[in-house]
Amino acid sequence: MVAMTDYVIADDTGLLPRDGTIKLHGPAGFDGMRKAGRLAAEILDALVPLVRPGVTTAAIDDVVRKMTLDGGAVPATLGYRGYTHSCCISINHVVCHGIPSEGRALKDGDIVNIDVTPLLDGWHGDSSRMYLVGDVPLKARRLVEVTYECLMLGIAKAQPGARLGDIGAAIQAHAERQRYGVVREFCGHGLGRLFHDSPEVIHAATAGTGPELKPGMFFTIEPMINLGRAAVKILDDGWTAVTRDRSLSAQFEHSIGITETGHEIFTTSPAGLHCPPYAG
Ligand code: MF3
Ligand code: CO
Ligand code: CO
Repeated sequence: MVAMTDYVIADDTGLLPRDGTIKLHGPAGFDGMRKAGRLAAEILDALVPLVRPGVTTAAIDDVVRKMTLDGGAVPATLGYRGYTHSCCISINHVVCHGIPSEGRALKDGDIVNIDVTPLLDGWHGDSSRMYLVGDVPLKARRLVEVTYECLMLGIAKAQPGARLGDIGAAIQAHAERQRYGVVREFCGHGLGRLFHDSPEVIHAATAGTGPELKPGMFFTIEPMINLGRAAVKILDDGWTAVTRDRSLSAQFEHSIGITETGHEIFTTSPAGLHCPPYAG
């Protein structure tokens, strides 16, 4: 059986249903996503000097909340399915959805993902980056660097006429070349006026499969790559996802739109802080 994909031209001025269709947005949508994405990137830029030994993840969450509100947005994660924080902070073997806490101070050698999603004028800017705390061993730095390369190799496949599976295939090939594990349980996602929408963007896929990419599609790419095996489990808090073998995990996320000729990345760092090391 061949799965059919429904595409709908989105009314970018109104609320849109989560109905399994892929929305195709126009100039108003691109404009909204540009602004929301820029705010997400500015927040991630501003966190660079804060990510250092001794700072608690709750303190980082406070800064994210304040910057999001000061930017005229609200954190989309606040109140989302019972989540009560303004970002996710995932350290070392935490794959994603790490919960900020007073009890967790950053330590020398930690690798940290911070994932923010300002909701600005009805549009979601979803992005995450890795940060290095103090002296990080080479093996961990290499994982971080390769994970960033995975994201950008996936994005390079995002153009009209390509298939969604081309993105995951590029990511998987690069990760598995280094014998890293690609997490299967969490995916990128369509977004726009909705936080999580169709399609699911899987990060381990077969080239030439999946929906065709069309101008006006908005989605995230957010590969989670493990130094060890791909398997994850969720802790008893119902959120925190960790590697089953407790190996280190890294993730980067951009929100992008498909254009007539290729793609636009909405969450590019204005300060050029794409990937660590961020400072000399
Ligand atoms: N920002 C995450 C993503 O990339 C979603 C976090 S939902 C939360 O899709 F509730 F865990 F915050
Ligand atoms: Co996302
Ligand atoms: Co995110």
